[in-house]
This record gives sequence, structure tokens and C-alpha cells, in this order.
Amino acid sequence: MMRTTPNSWFYFISLLCLVDLTITINLATAHYCLDHQQSLLLHLKNNLTYNQNQSKKLIHWNHVHDCCHWKGVSCNKGHVIALDLSQESISGGNFSSLFHMQFLQSLNLASNGFIQFGTYSEFQNLKYLRYLNLSNASIVGEIPKNIFQLSSLQVLDLSDNQRLNGFLPQNIPYQLASLNYLNLSHTNFSGPLPESLLNLRKLSTLDLSNCQFNGTLPNSMSNLTHLVYLDLSFNNFTGPLPSFNRSNALRSFALNHNYFSGTIPSTHFNGLANLVRVDLGDNSFDGRVPSTLFALPSLQQLILSYNRFEGPLKELPNCSSSSLEMLDLSGNNFQGPIPPSIFQLKRLFLLQLSTNKFNGTIKLDNIRSLPKLKTFDLSHNNLSVVGANVTYDQDFSYFPMLYNLLLASCKLDAFPSFLRNQSTLLYLDLSNNQIEGIIPNWIWKFEFLMALNLSNNFLEGMEGPFQNLGSNLFLLDLHGNQLQGTAPIFTKSIVSLDYSNNNFSSFFPADIGNQIPNVVNLYLSNNSFHGEIHESFCNMTFLRLLDLSDNRFTGEIPKCLATSDRSLRVLSLAGNELSGHVPDTFPTSCALRFLDFNGNLLDGTVPRSLTNCQNLQVLNLGKNQLIDTFPCFLKNILTLRVMILRSNKFHGHIECPSSTGNWEKLQILDLASNNFSGLLPSSLLRSWKALMHDEDRSRFGHLSFGLFDNINLIQNFGILTTEFSNADKMKFAKLVAVEPLFVVDHIVSHVMEGVYGIGRYEDSVTIVNKGQQMKLVKILIAFTSLDFSSNHFEGSVPEEITNFKGLHALNLSQNSFSGHIPSNISNLRNLESLDLSMNSLKGEIPTELASLSFLAIMNLSYNHLVGRIPTGTQIQSFEADSFAGNEGLCGPPLTQGCGLLPPLASKTTDFDHGSSIDWTILSVELGFTFGFGMFIMPLIFWKRWRLWFSEKADGVLYKIVPQLDFVYEHHGGKKYRTLRWKPFSL
Ligand SMILES: *[C@@H]1O[C@H](CO)[C@@H](O)[C@H](O)[C@H]1NC(C)=O
Ligand SMILES: *[C@@H]1O[C@H](CO)[C@@H](O)[C@H](O)[C@H]1NC(C)=O
Repeated sequence: MMRTTPNSWFYFISLLCLVDLTITINLATAHYCLDHQQSLLLHLKNNLTYNQNQSKKLIHWNHVHDCCHWKGVSCNKGHVIALDLSQESISGGNFSSLFHMQFLQSLNLASNGFIQFGTYSEFQNLKYLRYLNLSNASIVGEIPKNIFQLSSLQVLDLSDNQRLNGFLPQNIPYQLASLNYLNLSHTNFSGPLPESLLNLRKLSTLDLSNCQFNGTLPNSMSNLTHLVYLDLSFNNFTGPLPSFNRSNALRSFALNHNYFSGTIPSTHFNGLANLVRVDLGDNSFDGRVPSTLFALPSLQQLILSYNRFEGPLKELPNCSSSSLEMLDLSGNNFQGPIPPSIFQLKRLFLLQLSTNKFNGTIKLDNIRSLPKLKTFDLSHNNLSVVGANVTYDQDFSYFPMLYNLLLASCKLDAFPSFLRNQSTLLYLDLSNNQIEGIIPNWIWKFEFLMALNLSNNFLEGMEGPFQNLGSNLFLLDLHGNQLQGTAPIFTKSIVSLDYSNNNFSSFFPADIGNQIPNVVNLYLSNNSFHGEIHESFCNMTFLRLLDLSDNRFTGEIPKCLATSDRSLRVLSLAGNELSGHVPDTFPTSCALRFLDFNGNLLDGTVPRSLTNCQNLQVLNLGKNQLIDTFPCFLKNILTLRVMILRSNKFHGHIECPSSTGNWEKLQILDLASNNFSGLLPSSLLRSWKALMHDEDRSRFGHLSFGLFDNINLIQNFGILTTEFSNADKMKFAKLVAVEPLFVVDHIVSHVMEGVYGIGRYEDSVTIVNKGQQMKLVKILIAFTSLDFSSNHFEGSVPEEITNFKGLHALNLSQNSFSGHIPSNISNLRNLESLDLSMNSLKGEIPTELASLSFLAIMNLSYNHLVGRIPTGTQIQSFEADSFAGNEGLCGPPLTQGCGLLPPLASKTTDFDHGSSIDWTILSVELGFTFGFGMFIMPLIFWKRWRLWFSEKADGVLYKIVPQLDFVYEHHGGKKYRTLRWKPFSL
């Protein structure tokens, strides 16, 4: 809420000043309360449940005073005409006496806790009701339909009732014509807006934000000519915009976070001289932005972020007289140079142009002409940003004092010198540049700095000293530099610390966990940290994610790491030199979602206590020295999606007793290179339901886990601020006190974005509102794979495997499978890679194989297959190697013609596993671009998150699917990193 509330507040307050809410209620003068009115009121009081300690009105109602003087009651000629029982902590009861107060003009029951209200159908008795406020009253269920038949109604506020269902009636009665204020925001109202909306001719405020409305906007909305405030944000509206150019009074126009599309004709905004705010962000609008939009004389906020707007921006008209304060064009396809006139918008405090295709060179000196600028974001364009050319210290003072400066991917090669003086900075992002050298000491001394991202530069060191720094840093991201030596641990309030991908070899101080007790995300992977994992790691009570992978840690895994229960969700110790047993101390409250110990020297067995981790989704124990049988006991973990036991010393059959639960969600199972033997048991295969779904590829199997269950960022923000000392809070308050609330709001959202690496604050709140979970760390895979290769499995290829319609990759190579290739293998419609090589399969290649249209990799070599390779299909497009070592095979792509078959009985067992083929060379040659987008599907909700995510996702995927590999490719002079499928790695 925090994100939206200040905003709504701001507008609400301004609204109160603008909108004519004239509810003229003639307050009681000399008249005394009529007896029956008094008894109705007392009945009401007696029938209501309310908290007597918190009541300020009801509690005082009694026979002693005249009822017209009771608190919350107003009368006219002895009749009650206004009743205000807001904030009376009413939690239920019977309201029926209310509906006998026929003269009521105003009823305010806002901010209470009654649960059911929908049972009352007597609303139409209240003929004179003009003002009805039921907001924030915890109403559950449907709203009585006849509420829309109150013909005198001018104000209807049902907002902030999350569990209130309803939809607007198809035929809004003509009689409702006096309604000028309708607020249904933050309710569960759904369905389309009816054409009959135009019957609300006097409507000046329409707030339907944060509901479940959908469909296209009726064209009749153009007739709502009295509209002043329109907020349809955070719904599921689609289609184009009707024109609002007749709504001359319009001041605020918010359609953000919907699915609107189409272009915006310039006529739509012609003449709307009163418009103060236009927010079209997070939709799918495209085409050019009409320049009339920029020319609106009163416009203060223009937010067009995250759409598909395109084209170069023309010079903005009338810049010097513009009122524009916020201009957010980020996340579009704008191209060409940034028009210099933007820097003449003198009132700007926010300028966001990030994530577009702007090019050219921008001098930071430009912002000297924007004295009010607080947020400046040029990240992720094709811009070259050059530092300000400042020679004398006093020149610094001509720069605005910024709060948020984001210059990621701006080709900077040094810290801009004016930064040194920017002591008000809260968030600084200089990531993905070419900055060399040392991180200067002055940066740590910024009093308010909360988030600092210097990742992906060429930084080599950090200038100390790190003592006595009053830093409030919550986020420090230095990954992807060339930092070396000792990693200083000095930012006591840190929540997210990323030192990964550097050359650090140790920490200082060594008891890292005691130094940063509030840390939530800790990334230390891919350095040269060595020695034992310090026990103090267990002292970080808020820790959700710990990634120590790819270092040189030795010794045993501290038991307490497995024991630390409450919070840890993601634990990766992969790629170290850890030895000993995997601790068997996972507590019953184990919250782990992701556990990766791949590539260590661990021995012993799979710890039995892992069954306590009932939410585990990824278990990677590959490449260790575990000696155990197949861990059937893990079948109790119904959430398991990925299990990798590759390259250990597992042995025995993989049959499990049928009583042990199911792995219905399993997507990736890798048992390769162990000593498993026996048959592939049908019962086990039958339990893998997820592999059997041949769903729409765009929706299949998102593998995801949350660091927080319900992203209540307010609460998490609570975590952040606990360590914020009162003095710091005062400082912060002082800093932002002079700013309007919506500036503060924007700052907070930016900082949150920085700290959590996620999108805007309001987005996550909405997602929670809509009952959906937003995840902070997310692996998104619609990818499925079974790898049983290099074991001693035998018997025929089980028929059950052919049920796996969702399977993308199947590897049974280097086993002792015999029998035929099942002909209904063609059921595996999604198969992209099939490796059956080095078995004892016999018979012909089923022609049905040819119907697998996604099949890009196939290896049937070194079996006893015979006959003609099916012709006339893409099967011939595979290399001959795919069929080699089957003496009985003939036809293209083999050179062996079918007319000249050698006698079948010839030397079939002649080859030597592994020695006859250089597998490493083969794997390079068969490398195949996997079309990452095919199985990594975009997130539905949230574009900014999506962008962030796509940067991280392939990295995570690469880690857990060992057959994938990164390659760097050049297209059109640009370097791309792609994930490639490396099917035959051994
Ligand atoms: C509750 O309301 C009903 C009618 O509205 C009335 O008859 C009854 O007496 C009320 N109960 C009390 C305890 O006042
Ligand atoms: C609107 O949503 C409802 C369900 O909430 C759905 O049944 C209906 O088809 C949707 N309408 C449109 C136009 O998308």
C-alpha cells in the first residue's frame, strides 16, 4: 500500500479542492429529535457489535441527550438526515433499523469491520440518500444491486473492500444521473464497463483502480464530459482508448497497468487544457506519441513507461513555459537522439528515459539547467554519457542535488566528478559501464545512500578506510568487477550484498555473519574465497538467499547452516571443495526451496532429514562422492521439480515402494553417470505427471520459488528500517520533508527497486491485492529433461516413457537397454533432443520418429539397429555420426547404401565405450542454439521485473541444467550471450 497510498492521497486531497462535492446538508437547528427516530437509533446501536473501548460516538448515545445532538447524528425537523458511524470499530450486527430512517441523506460507515452487508435489500427505502460511504469496511460478498438504483445518489464510495464482489449493471439507470463521484477502487469488482455508463452524465470522479475489470472501454465514455478525475489503473482492460477530448475539465487521467493497445490519435488529447496528470504506463500502446500530449499547458506528470511507443522524439514545443514535473518514457522503443529541449523543462524533478533505443552523446552538464531534478535515469540505451567538465569546486554547486541517479549501460569510463558533491543521493546505479580503477572512499560517506550498484565494470579495488561510516546502505551490488584481495564487510544495515564474480579471496572481518546481521540476500559466488565456511553465517537471522558457489571453500558444511530454519530459502554451495557428509540436521521447519551442493567432494548418503524440506523444488547433489541407493524417501516432497544426482556413486534399482508419495511436478531428473541398475520401473514413471502434460508451451511449468511468501513489501521495508536509527530517520525525514509526497513516494519506490532488484513498489502491492504471489527469485523453466545415461539400466525402453508428452530431452545413452525403439515414441511431440546411443537396441528405426518436428538433436549410434533409415524426412538432416556403429543401418545420411548390406552377423560388439569417439569434439560440433525464448516464457504481469529477470534467468538455468552452456555469438557487430544445448557432455 505504501507505494499507492501517498499517491492517492495526494490526488485525493487535490481532488477535494477541485471536485464539487456539494452535499448541502441542512443541519439541525431548533428541532428536537422525534421519538421514533430516537428508538431507531437505539435499536441500531443495540443491534451492532462494536468495540466499546474504541467507539467515540455510539458509546455515548443514550436517553439523556436529545438524539439530534448525539455524536455522528444530524437532523432536520427531528428526522435523522445524516449518520456518520465511520471508525467506530463496528464488526457486525444487524443494520436493518437503518433502512427505516427514510430521511437519511448521508450515510458514512467507512473504516469499520463488518463482514457481511450484502444481505440488505432495503437500500431503496433511502430515497433521499445522496452520500454513501462504505469504504474500507471489510465488506465481504456481493454488494446489493439496488444500491445502483438510489436516484438521489451523488457520492458512492465502496473503495478498499478487497473481498467485495460485484459488477456494474448492464443497464445503469438513467435516474442515477446525479452521481458525480464513484469510487470502487481496491475492490473485487469485475467484468466490463457497460455502454450505459454514459447515463452517469454528471460523473466527475470515476475511480475503478485496482479491481478486476476487463474488456474494452465503451465509446460512450466520450460523453462523460464532466470528468475531472479518471483512474482505471491496475485492471485488465484491453483494446484502444476512446476519445476524451470533450471532457474539458479532465485533470487526472490514469490508465496504467492494463492491457490497452493501439495508437493514440493526437485528437484524443486536444484541448484538454486542464490535464495535470497522464499515466498510460505498463500497457501495450504503440506508434508515435502525439506531440500535443507534450504541449498540454497544465500537464505536470506524463508517464508513458513500458509500452511500445516508438520513433524519434521531436523537439518539445513550448518547453520554457511547460509545467512538466515528471516525465517517464522508460521501457519503450524510442530511438534517435534525446531532444535537447528536454533539458529546458525547468520544473522537472523526475526524468526517466531508460530502456529505450536512444542514441548519441549526452553531457551530464545538461542537468545543470534542471534545478529541481531529483531523479535522473538514462540507463540501458545506446547513449554515451560523458561526465561533466568541472574544473573548479564551486562549479559543482550548479548541479541539482539528486536523489536517484541511474546511468547503467551508459559507456561511462570514470566516476562523474560532480558525484562527489551529491551528498543527498539515495540510489546510485552506475552498473554495466566501463569504469576502471578504484571505488573512491567518498562514495561510502554519503549520508543517505541506500542502494549502490556498481556491478559489471572494471573496478579493481575499494578505497578505505571503512571505519566510522554513517552509511545506511541497504543494497550494495559490486558483482562482475575485478575486485580482489580482502572483501570488506562494513555496511551494517545491508540487506542485499552482491560481491559475486570478482577475485576476492577473503573477508574482513572474518565473522561476516556478525557484521551484517540484517542481510537477506548474500551473493558471494564465483570468487576465490577459501578456508572453512565461517559458523557466523548461521547468525544472519533474516537470510533468505545464500550463494557461496564457485569458490574454494573447504572443510565440512557447518551443521548450523542446515539447521537455520526459519528463513533460508535458497542455499547454494556448489562448485567448492567441501568434504564430509551432507549435514543431516534439516529441521521440520525447513523452508528451503533451492538446495545446490553440486560439484564438491561430499560423501556419505543423502540426508534423511531432507524430507523435512517439504517445499523443496530444486535439489542438486550432482558431482560428489555420495554413496547411496535411490532416495525414495524424497518422494514425500511433493513440490520437487528438479533432482540432479549425476556423477556420484548411487547404485541399485530405482524402484520405490508404491506407498511413498508422488513426484507429480518433476520436470528435470538427472541420474547420469552413477551405478544404477535394473529396469526403469513403470510405477515410478507413471507418477511423473508434469512430464505428461502437453500444454501450451508458453504456459507450461514455471519453476518458481519465492524468497517471501506474500510480498508484503511494507513488512519487508519494516525489516529494512529497524536498523535505521532514530537519528537517521530524522535526517531522512528532513531531507525529504520539503518534497511533495509523490516525490517521496517515487524515491521510496526507487530505493525498493534497488534493494530488491525488482520493479516498482506499487506493482508488487497490486499483485498481492489480486491474490497472486510475486516471487523475488524466480527460475522460470518450461523445460523438462530426463537423463539416465551412463548407468547399468537394462531391459526395454519402457512404454511409459512415451507418455511424456511434455518432455524436451531424453538421454538413455550408455546403458544396456535392449529391445526395439518403441514406435509410439512419436507421442513425445515436444522432444528436442533424443540420445539412445551405446545401448543394445535392435530392430529398425521406427518411421514415426520422423514426425517429431522439434527434434533437433538425435543420437542412435552404437546400437544394433538395422534396416533403412527412414527417408524423406528431417531425419536425414542429422549427421551420419548419429547413426554410426549400427552395422545393419543403411541409406542416407550414411554412405552405406541399402543394396549392399553386409551380413547381419558381423562384428557388433567391437567398439569400446568412450574411446572410439572424441566426445568433447562432438559436443562442440553438435552445439545447438536452443532458442532460449522457446522455453523461457515472459512473465505475465510485470514488465520491469521481466527485464530484470531475463538477465538473471539464464544464469540460474545454466547452473542447474549442466548440459546447457553459454556461448558468445556475434550478430551485426554485437555480442550476444546465448544458452546452448550441450547434449553429450560427459
Ligand atoms: C434490534 O432491531 C430490531 C428491529 O430493527 C428491534 O426490534 C430489536 O429490539 C433490536 N434489538 C435491540 C436489543 O435493541
Ligand atoms: C472478463 O473476465 C471474466 C472472468 O473474470 C471472463 O469470464 C470474461 O470472459 C472476461 N471478458 C473479457 C472481454 O475478457
